[in-house]
Amino acid sequence: MNDKRIYLAPMVGRTDEYYRALVRIMSKNIYLYTEMITCDAFLHTDRKHYKVNSREKDLTIQLAGSDPKKYGKCAKIIEEHGYSEINLNIGCPSTKVIKGDFGACLMNSPELVSEFIYEIKLSSSLPVSIKTRLGLGYEHNLNLLYNLIDQTHKAGCNKFFIHARNAILDGLSPKKNRKIPLLRYSDVLEVKKSFPFLAFYLNGGVESISEIKKNIVNFDGLMIGRSIYDNPIFMLQIEQEIFKSEVSLTRKDIIEKYAVYALEKSNQGISNYLLLRHLFSLYYNTSSSKKWKKFLHDIIQSNKDINNITSFEESFYEEKITTYG
Ligand SMILES: Cc1cc2nc3c(=O)[nH]c(=O)nc-3n(C[C@H](O)[C@H](O)[C@H](O)COP(=O)(O)O)c2cc1C
Repeated sequence: MNDKRIYLAPMVGRTDEYYRALVRIMSKNIYLYTEMITCDAFLHTDRKHYKVNSREKDLTIQLAGSDPKKYGKCAKIIEEHGYSEINLNIGCPSTKVIKGDFGACLMNSPELVSEFIYEIKLSSSLPVSIKTRLGLGYEHNLNLLYNLIDQTHKAGCNKFFIHARNAILDGLSPKKNRKIPLLRYSDVLEVKKSFPFLAFYLNGGVESISEIKKNIVNFDGLMIGRSIYDNPIFMLQIEQEIFKSEVSLTRKDIIEKYAVYALEKSNQGISNYLLLRHLFSLYYNTSSSKKWKKFLHDIIQSNKDINNITSFEESFYEEKITTYG
């Protein structure tokens, strides 16, 4: 692996601090991201929510917005709170985001994105990266992306995460935008070859160890989202087979370790729902999946003591972690 990196993709409603804690139990090596947060929301939320926990390091925060000055204000606070990097969301296709004039539509405004970077650099010493798409609409040319990279690189951005699809801004939901536009890894490779002095991370549709091995050699690393969220055991497999860690955990071990963390959070008043909602897929593709979901549901609905998660029937624990392929 040398210096290749794998990043957990930012996912709104998913990559919160509780999910990141779960992922860290399985992997010491994956790089973590927050969910996307708008500059306005960041500036108005209670600061105590932003402190980076030492186990989350290195943590990248993803910002979205359209006002350069606000990026500068956020950057100062972000640096003080221990984040490692600021990522700009130039790829989100949701209508809510487009109305706010940020996300994927900013591929059309590389000068403005460069201003964000200038302001961040004026207020902090943190590195800035960009997460974006191959282009907008149905055209498969890379002009917008080339222009964006060229200009933002001059402003000080050296690192790009490319979701290997176009974003279709009129008529496709965000969910469909993560499925319907064609994945074009070869185009990301072409971009990488055109800018050999910049770092590129491939994102989109990486679902197996063999795909990781095949693609990681061509890039500085990969970014993976849904296939880890939908099957947390895939994270464990990446840790073992890609990072060559000696980590050996059963599902029971994962639950017990998470319970220690969750109890601490529960005592601070965090709800069972927030603490347990990311655990539903732990038994993905096993015969215990249904029973596990029902078991968690019951703890959430009846607001039972969070420690109950360790009392899942032993027989279910015994299932070997061999379900991934
Ligand atoms: C529920 C969900 C929320 C997402 N939220 C974000 C986000 O906050 N910021 C972002 O840049 N991308 C977001 N994405 C896109 C992912 O980061 C990633 O680019 C996309 O899922 C493709 O990668 P994958 O095929 O490995 O999942 C989200 C995806 C999902 C499924």
